[in-house]
Amino acid sequence: MLSGKKILIGVTGSIAAYKSAYLIRSLIKLEAEVKVIMTSASCDFIAPLTLATLSKNPVAIDFVKNKEGEWENHVELGLWADLFVIAPCSANSTSKLVSGNCDNLLIATYLSARCPVWIAPAMDLDMFAHFSTQENLAQLSEKGVRIIEPTSGELASGLDGKGRMEEPEVIAELVNDFFEIKSNLKNKTILITGGPTYEAIDPVRFIGNHSSGKTGVLLADACAARGAHVILVTGPTHQRVNDPRIQVIRVQSALEMKAAVEKHWPTAKVGIFSAAVADYRPAHPATEKIKKKSDDLTIELVKNPDILAWAGQTKTSVQFLIGFALETQNEIKNAQGKFERKNLDLLVLNSLRDKGAGFGYDTNKVTFIQHNNKITNFELKEKTSIMEDILDVLEQEIQ
Ligand code: C5P
Repeated sequence: MLSGKKILIGVTGSIAAYKSAYLIRSLIKLEAEVKVIMTSASCDFIAPLTLATLSKNPVAIDFVKNKEGEWENHVELGLWADLFVIAPCSANSTSKLVSGNCDNLLIATYLSARCPVWIAPAMDLDMFAHFSTQENLAQLSEKGVRIIEPTSGELASGLDGKGRMEEPEVIAELVNDFFEIKSNLKNKTILITGGPTYEAIDPVRFIGNHSSGKTGVLLADACAARGAHVILVTGPTHQRVNDPRIQVIRVQSALEMKAAVEKHWPTAKVGIFSAAVADYRPAHPATEKIKKKSDDLTIELVKNPDILAWAGQTKTSVQFLIGFALETQNEIKNAQGKFERKNLDLLVLNSLRDKGAGFGYDTNKVTFIQHNNKITNFELKEKTSIMEDILDVLEQEIQ
């Protein structure tokens, strides 16, 4: 059941707009609180009065000013929702979601929304198959928007193919499943480190690395989707978490990351340390910008603390610790050594040798090292799928 859950339904200009009436009715039957935003094009396909009556709330179509004369209803609705489902989502709206072209209330609300966003595309088969639409959907999916794939069958044009909006009852079921999390990770505190660290040389320069921070963010979102309470300590990254429940602590240096980890590790159930922490930092960062004078400049470096190793030393019998390793030779042997030395429960070994694996790819090939010399090799696969494999191990191993 969905009692207490606030579902915002977006309806765009597609013949499938009539199905949103059934979707709203199904959600209301599941006791959700439902509000609806329509684009003006969608009003040609279904009357706002119908959706207002079924949702038991006024339907929003235009920007409305508040008493102070400021536009605010898009922000209000975006913050109100626990989940925003745009169904049907036309090719035009899909493209606007990617570009951020917020010339209507629905897209403006999407930009303001802090909750997960799902879209159920509905269009003719050629429009759906077109590379523009496919690229738009791929971009949205990569950014965390969940795509409810259309089904195949007879279309309004009379043609037969993929483009029919998923049935409203199925979408309502997906919404229900989403909120009814049965995972073992539900309500457990998971501390994640991610991203690079920047080690100051002076106020404007630093030593860093090419870590994008993507792994930490993907892990955080995957854990939150299973109902965990997630604390993500991340070095500088442009990546953003999708789930508003994640507590994000942004740090710059290894020492700052260590301080944040020291604060939160004692109360966490699980630690997943994926940060690419700089091994060394300048011993004496200059307080003023270093002037270009001599031909040579020597910077003395000192070793950074190994944050994962510290967590391993202080780990209690009820905590579970996961580390990552990137090895280029004697991979398994070195990884097993690291597993023991850092007192881990799971080590995810990344490969740099395989095509499509490692930095900059959306795919990776990993090996899991666990207790009792258990080694599991995986095929090259999407990084998001690897996160699920990691969490599946966690589900089994923690109480
Ligand atoms: O020893 P190595 O750097 O290869 O170990 C990698 C693992 O240790 C990763 O999980 C990384 O997040 C963690 N690590 C850390 N603090 C460091 C260095 C690595 O937490 N200073």
